[in-house]
Amino acid sequence: MDSETQSIDRLLVGVSGSIAILSLPSYLASLRASLAREVRVIMTPEAAELLPPSTVTLLCDGVFIDRNTTLEKRPGHMELARWSEMFVVLPASANVIGQTANGLATNLLTTTILASPRPVILCPNLTNVMWSKEAVQRNVRTLREDGHIVVEPELAVAYEVDSGEMRESWIVPQPEQLIERLLQIHKRTGRGFSTGQ
Ligand SMILES: Cc1cc2nc3c(=O)[nH]c(=O)nc-3n(C[C@H](O)[C@H](O)[C@H](O)COP(=O)(O)O)c2cc1C
Repeated sequence: MDSETQSIDRLLVGVSGSIAILSLPSYLASLRASLAREVRVIMTPEAAELLPPSTVTLLCDGVFIDRNTTLEKRPGHMELARWSEMFVVLPASANVIGQTANGLATNLLTTTILASPRPVILCPNLTNVMWSKEAVQRNVRTLREDGHIVVEPELAVAYEVDSGEMRESWIVPQPEQLIERLLQIHKRTGRGFSTGQ
């Protein structure tokens, strides 16, 4: 898809500490090629432990992390939140889901979510046991009641780091399906995807 058909000008991707981060490069490549002209990424400290931000830099137009030692002034949470036309958390950990549902802001990603004038799209990736916890389901309901969009994860057999085994997990839809879903959301909400704040 060429730049004429990319629907979104400014896509902000929040990345949290889920095993699905191992597939992040292929998601970012697809998002950049088929959906958005400019893609910026915010990584939580946990995410930056699992995948080096220097790798993520190769696949987007800028990576923002909490502990940035550069002296150069960079956009903070307010500017990043205002900049984005669409804000997707991919993958969304149980922790980010819980923090967002409860209005907590302990790092750059969750602070930017709280500062966002628009609802946020969250793409959960959790083990079967975590996803079935009532606390997690309650947080997902709260997010939806608050106007955020939670992309339904898909049940699949996926690699579990702790055991080294393949086990049932709720995973983010594959890049093509996710982009289709994001395009539907964009079509439905368009530039009216705003809480008006
Ligand atoms: C290798 C590894 C894989 C993990 N995968 C997941 C996951 O898929 N989903 C999840 O909710 N938490 C997962 N966690 C736990 C989160 O990293 C942990 O809750 C962390 O505090 C999340 O921080 P963040 O939400 O600020 O990124 C994983 C942890 C490790 C070490």
